[in-house]
Amino acid sequence: MPSKFYITTPIYYVNARPHIGHAYTTIACDAIARRQRMLGSDTFFLTGTDEHGQKIERSAAEAGITPQQLTDRIAGEFRGLWDRMNISYDDFIRTTEPRHKRGVQEMFRRIRDNGHIYKGSYSGQYCVFDELYVDATGAGAPCPECGRPTETVKEENYFFKLSAFEDTLLKLYTERPDFIRPETRRNEVMAFVRGGLRDLSISRTTIKWGIPVPDDPRHVIYVWLDALSNYCTAIGFGSPDKKDQQKFARYWPADVHMIGKEIVRFHCVYWPAFLMAAGLPLPKSIVAHGWLLFEESKMSKSRGNIVRAETVIDVLGNDALRYFLLREVVFGQDGSFSFDALVQRYNSDLANDLGNLASRTLAMITRYFRGEMPYPSSVVSRTPADDAIARTAEAAIASYASLWDDFQFSRALEAAWSLVAAVNKYIVDNEPWAVAEKDDEGSRARLATILYTAAEALRIVTALAHAAIPESTARIWEQLGLGDISRFRLTDLKWGQSQHGTKLGKVEPVFPRADKSAIERMQQMEQQRTTTQAAPIAPAATTGPSPTTPAMVTPAPAAPGPAAAAADGRISIDDFAKVEMRVGQVKAAEKVKGADKLLRLEVDIGTEVRQVVAGIAEAYAPESLIGRKVVLVVNLQPRKLRGLESNAMIVAASVGDKGLPVLAGFLEDVPVGARLK
Ligand code: MSP
Repeated sequence: MPSKFYITTPIYYVNARPHIGHAYTTIACDAIARRQRMLGSDTFFLTGTDEHGQKIERSAAEAGITPQQLTDRIAGEFRGLWDRMNISYDDFIRTTEPRHKRGVQEMFRRIRDNGHIYKGSYSGQYCVFDELYVDATGAGAPCPECGRPTETVKEENYFFKLSAFEDTLLKLYTERPDFIRPETRRNEVMAFVRGGLRDLSISRTTIKWGIPVPDDPRHVIYVWLDALSNYCTAIGFGSPDKKDQQKFARYWPADVHMIGKEIVRFHCVYWPAFLMAAGLPLPKSIVAHGWLLFEESKMSKSRGNIVRAETVIDVLGNDALRYFLLREVVFGQDGSFSFDALVQRYNSDLANDLGNLASRTLAMITRYFRGEMPYPSSVVSRTPADDAIARTAEAAIASYASLWDDFQFSRALEAAWSLVAAVNKYIVDNEPWAVAEKDDEGSRARLATILYTAAEALRIVTALAHAAIPESTARIWEQLGLGDISRFRLTDLKWGQSQHGTKLGKVEPVFPRADKSAIERMQQMEQQRTTTQAAPIAPAATTGPSPTTPAMVTPAPAAPGPAAAAADGRISIDDFAKVEMRVGQVKAAEKVKGADKLLRLEVDIGTEVRQVVAGIAEAYAPESLIGRKVVLVVNLQPRKLRGLESNAMIVAASVGDKGLPVLAGFLEDVPVGARLK
């Protein structure tokens, strides 16, 4: 039986749409899970959404929808994005699912039956943003974690005897130094626990959006006890079903809980204490990474400095985003995201280094050896340079493994790319194109050895990098004539396994070079997304407009992206033909109450008059629009904004730093209802 490996992401709050900060954690876990699968482990990779609590209850109220509507929408967006990004999760848990509810209640019961819960009354400050009870005094006192004003909570609660776990927790951190990683986080946690632990309120009576306490449904369970339990409930904890119980026995305890550094306390103090109290084994390791910064501060919805993963993947593809995040950010530390750095990294490491190695090696084998892997003589026409590459490759395999196992993704990739650099230099030094000009047998043998050496190194880099950049490496693997890379076991990887005579697959470039316009396109798409997301929570388009389409200033409904969109973001003519754009004439226009950016328009499209809610109020006074001809996308599903149904999307360019909308129009007179093609 293969060994098991269970890895989890945090479950993401559904009060905000996913951005690349969330994608960063998910990508790191996906890469780890993929490597484990390649090593032959029975891997289980869990992600999901955290859907209860006061924060969600409030966000829903602000958006004028029910918590269930909000959670369904945003959970769908997270899942849809992970699917688009080819994230290889094995399960997606939502905390509103019955299986989770049942498991959380069982967790509560066990902790209570073991004598760790008592009833008391809480009076103090609560931070809704962090869903955290804090030591602060006075109404509105700032939260020590995030600085936001706290709220006074006074209610009867169930308490968890956290204070009793102080010594046990300290013993745990000391005896198992790998329990919290990296070291800096472990030290912080130890200092926090040494400072003394207070009992923790684990139920609320003043909020309704949660899981009822068993036998006392006036209370709902504290959202962090609810959320943390997902790691157990998703794999069958609390289920009466035998199969679920076996699954839990198989995968629990988790091997890695991957988290961002801001939720270390919940995972490293509360969670092990809850588990010990319930009599359950503890996870093997909690690994905290740093934050992704954009414009120098943590990317977050509340700061408004968000970049969407969709923007990057629409323009450069999934692997560009994955490679950048894993290679550029030193794991554990904060890292900066910028479009310039992204494109630079993509061009230098992927388009130039790996892309060139693949395309020239494979092109030369095609040209000089009819597309069949040549035979490298171990004696004839061999030089020390050939053996040096073999040694560099063996060293890269070893250091990649140890760095990766230590969560040093950036350095692991660096090790693989040092092989790429060495082989590219080897090719330049050995000039196979010049050797090919010569007609003698010795030169032919030399050419075979050079190209075999280059192709073998390419195969090794491809196998190593597969977990990090799965899509492009799968294509290179096929081009090498090796078939389906998912069948390959990394445990087998060593120099010299390529078989001579192997027929190459169809050779095509894998990383088209990105030019300057890629940066502009991404910036524009971000601006459009910001403008189009005027309403606080509304279904966002999971696919942005293609780089050449104009800005859409009414939010688009959630729709899966075109399945066959090219890696460079281009779509087929058939995809374009699905969009029905027509000329309309504005008959009425007014501001939408309480929304600075929105106008309500009535637009004649020839066959009917449509109500449209558009994010153009900052650029156009309502009265200036009456009688104006505009372009509308008329075949979108209707959607509600601020309670108003919008039945089309108005088309505009997005201009300047603020992305202000400029409506599309015509120089010639055009009839109302005319279709744009
Ligand atoms: N719901 C809780 C977690 C419960 S786990 C039992 C939560 N959710 S969250 O939506 O706020 O997501 C937090 C996680 O998203 C972070 O821990 C981190 O993994 C990821 N990130 C969100 N923004 C991020 C950055 N700007 N940078 C890096 N990671 C970020 O907390």
